[in-house]
Amino acid sequence: MNPKPPILKYMLASLFLSLPLFLFLLAAATATFLRRPQPPPGIRIRPGYTSYETYIQRQLNKTQNPKLRRIWRTRDWDRKVVVFSRFFRALQSKRLLSNDSKALCVGARVGQEVEALRRVGVSDSIGIDLVPSPPLVVKGDFHAQPFGDATFDFEFSNVFDHALYPDRFVGEIERTLKPGGVCALHVAVSRRPDKYSANDLLSVAPLVNMFRGSEVVYTRKVDGFGLDTEIVFRKKNTATATESVAKGLR
Ligand SMILES: *[C@@H]1O[C@H](CO)[C@@H](O)[C@H](O)[C@H]1NC(C)=O
Ligand SMILES: *[C@@H]1O[C@H](CO)[C@@H](O)[C@H](O)[C@H]1NC(C)=O
Repeated sequence: MNPKPPILKYMLASLFLSLPLFLFLLAAATATFLRRPQPPPGIRIRPGYTSYETYIQRQLNKTQNPKLRRIWRTRDWDRKVVVFSRFFRALQSKRLLSNDSKALCVGARVGQEVEALRRVGVSDSIGIDLVPSPPLVVKGDFHAQPFGDATFDFEFSNVFDHALYPDRFVGEIERTLKPGGVCALHVAVSRRPDKYSANDLLSVAPLVNMFRGSEVVYTRKVDGFGLDTEIVFRKKNTATATESVAKGLR
């Protein structure tokens, strides 16, 4: 047998010596991949959000757009307040919302839904969004609501599709709702609601699964500015419900 040419020997030796480094890099990449929160089944997270910071930048790009904010405050204002008022009156007539409810609108932009709540008589109502819009909307990220546990009787949101971490979005609503409190969501099922959306919901089932500490009151089709489904939850009163909410947040 011919002895190996020296160059080949060096190549083999360097390949062998770099093996540990290669394995280390592979393990590190795998660990990074596994650390990324995996979305619940039935929900697709849109590609392109490499970090929470790029996600926030993209959301701010819409929320801070001066042209959009002007339209929301002028041309859109009355039309939307009227439609939201109709949705809230329907909830009042079903006794899921009352004039003394302490109410929160999650991801409220300039606060059209907060204005609607106040107009139908729910005076103790406020909104949160990444950009505040006084006096109706205070600054807050729905992945980490700036409120204590069991603060609200009622929460409304039509921005579920903007959540990068849908289970945190839901966990925060369940945390800040009082036991027996009601959450009404408008969502788009199996359609692309918005180019700024971060997730796509393929059916209501994954949403129902995420509300571990609540039960569904009803689901119905609505025409809500591109969103087609209203789903209403009630947070359970029992101790086991509280435990499962805590588990969901961990
Ligand atoms: C924000 O929007 C502007 C104009 O619409 C665009 O040029 C810019 O690249 C966007 N930035 C991000 C971070 O998406
Ligand atoms: C709630 O407030 C609205 C607006 O002020 C009023 O019209 C309505 O009668 C109130 N409902 C109840 C049950 O008091």
